[in-house]
Amino acid sequence: MKKIDLVVGLQWGDEGKGKIVDLLISRNKYDVVMRGNGGNNAGHSISFNDKTFSVHSLPSGILQECINIIGPGCVVNPKAIVSELDNLGDYVSGELVISDRCPLILEKHIIEDKKLEDKKAHNSVGTTLKGIGPAYAALKNRTAVFAGDLLDIEKTLKRFDFLETEEKESLIIELTLYKKLIGKYIKNISPIVYDAKNILVEGAQATMLDNLYGTYPYVTSSNTIVSSLLTGTGLNYKYINKVYGVTKFYTTRVGNGPFITEMGEDTAKTVQKIGKEIGVSTGRIRRCGWIDLVQLKYAIGLNGITDLCMMKSDVMDDFEEIQLCNSYNEINTQNNIKYIPFDISKYKPNYVSFNGWHSDTFNKPLNSSPDELNTIFKYIEKELDVHLTFISTGPAREATVFVH
Ligand code: IMP
Ligand code: MG
Repeated sequence: MKKIDLVVGLQWGDEGKGKIVDLLISRNKYDVVMRGNGGNNAGHSISFNDKTFSVHSLPSGILQECINIIGPGCVVNPKAIVSELDNLGDYVSGELVISDRCPLILEKHIIEDKKLEDKKAHNSVGTTLKGIGPAYAALKNRTAVFAGDLLDIEKTLKRFDFLETEEKESLIIELTLYKKLIGKYIKNISPIVYDAKNILVEGAQATMLDNLYGTYPYVTSSNTIVSSLLTGTGLNYKYINKVYGVTKFYTTRVGNGPFITEMGEDTAKTVQKIGKEIGVSTGRIRRCGWIDLVQLKYAIGLNGITDLCMMKSDVMDDFEEIQLCNSYNEINTQNNIKYIPFDISKYKPNYVSFNGWHSDTFNKPLNSSPDELNTIFKYIEKELDVHLTFISTGPAREATVFVH
């Protein structure tokens, strides 16, 4: 019977999904790896043989021998695809397939993204400026151009009769170029998906950036949670085997928006430095905060997580004290809650403190964690009611322990 595993980020992105995906592919020999949301706003780092690779729109299986599908829930920038493939060069081992149902990111979407961010000024979202929002908006407005449309440009243009002549002419030039760039990868994915036995679905962005369930308006324009990945890949729930949720031992976010467990400046600087918290896609420094169990519980519930992956506890090797947020208090009423409220800016976090472990765990397989760290892991498992399956302490493939 067909089996589907999914990997999603539980926080605001950059949890280390790329590494977990890469590791699962090496362990489980998936025949197909799929993306189901987002575009080249994503940035996944994969390290092996002392080299680090960055992928943005491509599925992380592209460096291994499997079929890599960009599913219909993704928006595709053809130039970005080609430049990513060029950057990876001979390391590309997998086959790339772009679903004919993927909406394209057009030049005008990138211009619109920038314009809207400028207009919003201090209220800007802090988008990656890659045109993601306008491309999804075009889909909802029924003015999208799909990858499959590139295969019959003449017919496609009939849908755009309403455009001014000049705009239409530049669209013809743009689509002709895109066909040349990615035409050979565009397919109807149904036959591949029907035949696949073992599929891995790789989420992009993360739960708190979900357009509906995240910290709106400081979110991305796609839905990012597991149910939307089923929509974005065309797979169905009957075959789901495991749902891996990836979190860091602390929290980061790039871009603007509320961040209830954000650390004081000095602590954040230490985490940024040791954890190398700089964006893969945009080079921006990431904001840092303590781990938020209220937020993680919400994410675990929304996604139906079966297995938790804990990344980067090593960043806190030298910390005297570790703080974990386990509830929120409403600032005006002191009302104590353990769920995500509609307006999080009206709340402040409550923390429980644990002693640090003071030993060097970086890039080491944590077969037996230091006692203090183990106590924290046990507390997290109990609060979140989920099994900790992977513990990762560094970029190397070897620095990951499979706990259960
Ligand atoms: P957009 O996805 O470019 O529209 O950006 C919307 C928000 O999502 C911004 O705060 C981005 O920084 C954030 N974002 C988008 N993709 C990622 C990602 O892969 N990791 C982390 N943040 C992201
Ligand atoms: Mg990333």
